[in-house]
Amino acid sequence: MDDNFYRIRRLPPYVFAEVNAMKAAARARGEDVIDLGMGNPDGAPPKHVIDKLAEVAAKPTAHRYSASRGIPGLRKAQAAYYQRRFNVTLDPDKEVIVCLGSKEGLANLAQAITAPGDVVLAPNPSYPIHSFGFIIAGASVRSIPAAPGDDFFERLSNAMRFTVPRPKVLVIGYPSNPTAYVADLPFYERLVAFARENDLIVISDLAYAEIYFGDTPTPSILQVEGAKDVAVEFTSLSKTYSMAGWRIGFAVGNARLIDALGRVKSYLDYGAFTPIQAAACAALNGPQDIIDFNRNLYRSVAMCWSKASAAPAGPSRRPRHRCSPGCRSPSASTIWARWNSRRSC
Ligand SMILES: Cc1ncc(COP(=O)(O)O)c(C=O)c1O
Repeated sequence: MDDNFYRIRRLPPYVFAEVNAMKAAARARGEDVIDLGMGNPDGAPPKHVIDKLAEVAAKPTAHRYSASRGIPGLRKAQAAYYQRRFNVTLDPDKEVIVCLGSKEGLANLAQAITAPGDVVLAPNPSYPIHSFGFIIAGASVRSIPAAPGDDFFERLSNAMRFTVPRPKVLVIGYPSNPTAYVADLPFYERLVAFARENDLIVISDLAYAEIYFGDTPTPSILQVEGAKDVAVEFTSLSKTYSMAGWRIGFAVGNARLIDALGRVKSYLDYGAFTPIQAAACAALNGPQDIIDFNRNLYRSVAMCWSKASAAPAGPSRRPRHRCSPGCRSPSASTIWARWNSRRSC
């Protein structure tokens, strides 16, 4: 068999799969492994969410194929979340889609909007699907800085002026994994203006929307007027509600991009299991105590890491906890640490 598969040739082994294999091997040797590799929330979702899952799963009618775009109640619940959290109004029918985790949505949006040879701009370093979703889809990826400072816009302008063909899509994600950079509203305002001027699609990954450690809640790019003309944003229940294994995420924003994603998904999936979608509604609509609980938990983990990193043999970079462009607010699960170098903050 010719196993020289085109797409597989473009993909190195997935970083977390490699780390998991190393971890398993170390454990098999009897070593005690502290896993800092992959952000995998290990808490439980709230009880009312589990109860709703069990209640709906007990109904004989709940086991059919579900709705690929998400059940209407869940799309409404996500629109309500954007309204109360960001003061952003969304049409649940046209501007919201449910994904099987934001990772699936990011990958299938890349499939939906990319032609072979398109150029996509993605941060370096970034969460793997930001670039590899597009690489799988046949695009070329050019790097832009992960830090949302002035250098970001300079490099972005240069990329637009000097890259052939002209970049079509920009991927960003703040709070960032793995760098923990955060962005503020003025950054998004400047970015939306740039994207509108340059006919650039912006994909914002807001998976860590609720994991901020300063006084200012993480903003959404959709808070900027006109952002819906150019942008789509992904969020996730994985970190916010400790529901990583449930695979529920969302894309919201530009109706044409949501529609394109919906078209591809309609060929590929029948939506998440209906009881999971019903329980996701309960998470978004019910008591929200878990959000503060998780934020405080991750903050204490970050502080603990920060203290540990002061030890001579430990990593050098301490997290800062203010939200301003270029500053780092360690996201829940990933701490970007540089080993064996001088402390810089
Ligand atoms: C930045 C970022 N985006 C997206 C994801 C994927 O999240 P989900 O569980 O919604 O697929 C992760 C998971 O760690 C992440 O770190």
